[in-house]
Amino acid sequence: MCGIVGYIGNQPAVVRLFNGLRELEYRGYDSAGLAVLQPDGLRCFKTVGKLDNLATKLGDYESSGPVTAIGHTRWATHGKPTEANAHPHGLTHSQVVHNGIIENYVALREAVETPFLSQTDSEVIVHLFERHLAAQAESTPNQRVESSSATDDPAIDPALAAFRATLDTLHGAYAILLISETAPGRIFFARKGSPLQLGFAEDGCHFASSDAPLVGVCSQTLYLEDGHWGVATPEGLTLFGADGSPAVLAPKPLPASSLAARKEGYRYFMEKEIYEQPRVLADILTGRLSKQAVLLDELDADWLRPIASVTLCACGTSYHAALTGSYLLERLARVPARVEIASEFRYREPVLDPNGLFVVISQSGETADTLEAIKLAKAQGLSTLALCNVDNSSIVREAERTLLLRAGIEKGVASTKAFSAQVLTLWLLALYWGQERAVLSGERHARELSALRAVLNVMQVQPRVHERLHRLSKRYLHGHGFFFIGRDLFYPLALEGALKLKEISYLHAEGYPAGEMKHGPIALADAELFTIALMARSTLYEKVKSNVEELSARDATIIAITTEYFELADDIIQIRSYGHPMLEFFEMLVVVQLLAMEIAIRLGNDVDMPRNLAKSVTVE
Ligand code: AGP
Repeated sequence: MCGIVGYIGNQPAVVRLFNGLRELEYRGYDSAGLAVLQPDGLRCFKTVGKLDNLATKLGDYESSGPVTAIGHTRWATHGKPTEANAHPHGLTHSQVVHNGIIENYVALREAVETPFLSQTDSEVIVHLFERHLAAQAESTPNQRVESSSATDDPAIDPALAAFRATLDTLHGAYAILLISETAPGRIFFARKGSPLQLGFAEDGCHFASSDAPLVGVCSQTLYLEDGHWGVATPEGLTLFGADGSPAVLAPKPLPASSLAARKEGYRYFMEKEIYEQPRVLADILTGRLSKQAVLLDELDADWLRPIASVTLCACGTSYHAALTGSYLLERLARVPARVEIASEFRYREPVLDPNGLFVVISQSGETADTLEAIKLAKAQGLSTLALCNVDNSSIVREAERTLLLRAGIEKGVASTKAFSAQVLTLWLLALYWGQERAVLSGERHARELSALRAVLNVMQVQPRVHERLHRLSKRYLHGHGFFFIGRDLFYPLALEGALKLKEISYLHAEGYPAGEMKHGPIALADAELFTIALMARSTLYEKVKSNVEELSARDATIIAITTEYFELADDIIQIRSYGHPMLEFFEMLVVVQLLAMEIAIRLGNDVDMPRNLAKSVTVE
C-alpha cells in the first residue's frame, strides 16, 4: 500500500517527512518522493527503489523557515516503478501525492491539454487543479490569493474552489495532499475510500495515511472520513463534507511513543512479532475470561440471539483465520458457518441469509476487497462484525460491531501476531456464542476455558526449537516445491504455513488437505518434494499418518511437526502434547512461522518487506 506524509510549519521539513516515510516503509513500496514549497519556490525529489536512494538524491538539502511539504511511498498499480511514475506529480505551480485509484483517469486525461509525464492515474489530479485555477483566474482577473488573504471559502478562494472542482470530477478512491505556489503555507487534502489523517504539534501540522508516522509526533489525530476535504495551515484546518458544508471532527488520542514499533534487538520486525505473540494473546484475554465464562463486552446476547448463520470473509492470511474460525464456530457455537474469499465473494452475486452474521477479518482494516464485501453484506441487511487490528480504519467504520485484535502495530508484511490474534479472537467468539446458545456441555465448556488459559505459554518461542529450525532450514533452500498438509483445523494452518513460506522465501509452497493428496498431488511425490506434515496428536493423527506414509512410500521428503518420534519422517520438529487441538495449533503455528523466516534469511531475502508485497492491499 502507498504511504502519504505532509507537513506545514517553520521547522525543517525534509527530516520530518523522511521520519514519517520510514515509519511507512514496512507497508511495502517500490519508489518514493517528496515536494517542498518555500518562499523561494517549489522543489520536487523522487527516485525508484528504497528511501536510501531518495536520501542520496536529496544530499544535504533541507528547508528553512516557513515551509509546506508532502511525501509519498508508491506501490505500483498504474505504470511500472519508474522515477516518472513516482509521486509527487507536478505541473507548473503545484505538486500532488495520492493513494487509491482514479477510475475515470483515462477520460480525464483526454480532457486536459497539458502533456503528461507519467503513466499514472494520480497525475491527472494536478492537471485538473491547475486547469480549474486558470479558469478561476480568467473569470476573476488579478485576484491571485496569497495565504495571508486566503479566505478558506470555496466561493471566494480560487485555490480552494479549484481544488473542490477537481474533486468533483474524480471517480474512485483517493487520499490526496496537494500544495501549490498559488497558495503557500496551505495543504489541500481530501479523503474518499483511502485513509488519511492529520495532527497538530508545537512545530505545526502533520499529515499521514496511517497512525505510525504521527506516533510520538502528535498526541492526538483527526481521522478524516470519506468525503472530507479542505485546507490546512500550521494553525488549523478548514474542513468540509462531501456536500461542501462545514464539517467537524473529534480528535482521537495517539500512543505516546513509537518505541513499540522498533525492532528492539531482533533481526526483523517479523521475528519480534513472532516472539511477541504470548503477550499479544495475554492482552486479548485480559478482561475476557472469568472463572466460568468468556466475556465479550463488545457484543451482547440480544444482538446475537436472532442470528442463525455466519459468513466469514477475508483475504490472504486473514482468510486462513476465517477458515479456522469456521471450524470453531460450528463446533463450539453449533452455528452453520461458511467462509468466503473477499475478492471472489464480491462478484459472485451471493445469496445471503438476511438473518445471518457477516464477519470480516482484517489486520489493516483497509483491504479493498474485504471493505467492499462488508458493504455488500450490509446492503443485503446482514448484521456485521469486524475483527480488525486498526481502530478507526475503513472496515471498522463500516462494521456494526468490532472486536479489535489488540495485536499492536504489525510492521512485518508477512502477518504473524495478527493471525494468531485473529484465531484466538475467533475462538473466544465461538465459545461466547456457544455459551449464549447453551449448546456446550459443562465438561466441554470447562475444557475449552482451561485450554484458553494455557494458550499463553504454548506460543512462547522455545530457544531449542528456534535453533533447530535455524539449523534445519539449510536443507530446504531448493527443491521443486513444498506441500504443507493437515486435516481439520490443521488444514487452514497448512494454508497459512505455505503462504508464510511463499511470501518471504519466494519458494513455491501449497497448503493442502492431507486427505486430498491421493487425489492427484501425490503424483508430484519424489525426493525433491518437501512435505511439511502437521501431525496433531489430538486430531485425526492416524489418518494424517497414513497420508504421510503414502507420500513417504514414494520417496517424498517428510518434515513432521508432531508430538513424538515418527520413523518415516526425514526431519521431525517435536512439539509438546496437550490433548487439545487449539494448543497444538498455536504451537505448530510458531514452528511454521519460524521455519519460513529462517529459510528466507538463509536465502538473503528482505523478510520484513518481501518483493512485490504490500502490508495492506487497498486496491483491487
Ligand atoms: C499476510 O501475510 C499477507 N501479508 C496478506 O495475505 C494479508 O493477510 C492480506 O492482504 C489481508 O490483509 P488484511 O488482514 O490487512 O485485510
